[in-house]
Amino acid sequence: KKVAVIFGGRSVEHEVSVITGMQVIENIDKTKYEVVPIYINKDGKWLTGNSLMEFKSFKENNLKDLKEIILSPNHGDKNIYAHPESLGLFGKKIIDKIDIVFPTIHGTNGEDGTIQGLFELMNIPYVGGGVLASSVGMDKILMKDVFKANNLPIVDYTWFYRSRWENNKDDIIKNIEEKLEYPLFVKPANLGSSIGISKAKDRESLIKASEVAIEYDRKIIVEKSVENPREINCAVMGYDEEIITSLCEEPLGWEEILTFEDKYVKSNAKGGKSSGERRIIPADIEENIRIQIETIAKEAFISIDGRGTSRIDFLLDENNKVYINEINTLPGSVAFYLWEGKGYPFKKLINELIDIAIK
Ligand code: DAL
Ligand code: MG
Repeated sequence: KKVAVIFGGRSVEHEVSVITGMQVIENIDKTKYEVVPIYINKDGKWLTGNSLMEFKSFKENNLKDLKEIILSPNHGDKNIYAHPESLGLFGKKIIDKIDIVFPTIHGTNGEDGTIQGLFELMNIPYVGGGVLASSVGMDKILMKDVFKANNLPIVDYTWFYRSRWENNKDDIIKNIEEKLEYPLFVKPANLGSSIGISKAKDRESLIKASEVAIEYDRKIIVEKSVENPREINCAVMGYDEEIITSLCEEPLGWEEILTFEDKYVKSNAKGGKSSGERRIIPADIEENIRIQIETIAKEAFISIDGRGTSRIDFLLDENNKVYINEINTLPGSVAFYLWEGKGYPFKKLINELIDIAIK
């Protein structure tokens, strides 16, 4: 069967996505699946070619054999891709029919239900969350509304539209201060990898933080900060209520976003810890905390109608109270490192995710 691994994309998480895509391509079971690599460049062009399989020192202009493709619906045995300049009756074959898509694009247009909608229209099974889970999981406001409705423990939050900021700044600030106590976190509602997020300890820094966040998104979420938190993450895999949890990790020193170089080129990605040893797995937490986290992780996944694997990020406050921070429906590196110790080495994880996709 042909599996198209799609990576890159027009989001601010382009580089992270290239890493995830390459890791999946490297670890996919080649005895079962034939890989069709598809790279979406920063201009949004869909490109394919064998040189994408050797992406280690990725620079688009080093890739010699790339051909631009465009998608068309999956009908019977017809090819689903054609060259855009020769579409229609004279469509030129670029790739044979694809059986399954493995999207590895984080953030905008990849993790938010848009590309998933395209696969639905094309009638191709795909790995990971569907349109609903992806879009709810991407928008931190909708995500928290759903968590709240399901009585999952979240920090207090409020939000505003960017379009109101310029003329209603004072009202917005007043409203936030009435609802929440400093310190606060100000975040673009729809981004990943910590981009555009800042902490505000007073009115002045709240205004600054909001001005950073509105550069990135139409909707801004403001949350009460959990002070001196421990971060604990846990992944979930499955569909409907047939789900299992991974080991928990405690990521360390993740304030900075790692670059493509740091994450992939400078490290061994062959199923190794591609991001260095910046995490403790399994996290050193008490059994009852672990059980709480696993339970909430499953409930969160079900609450958004998750499928495939998601990584759920938690915060522990100084009294060990557990807060769910967010769900990532297309986690970096498909969170393979959380599954290795649970009997799912990377290859088996990919096989499992593909099986779930075609169920
Ligand atoms: N958005 C990044 C890739 C993550 O959550 O893992
Ligand atoms: Mg996220």
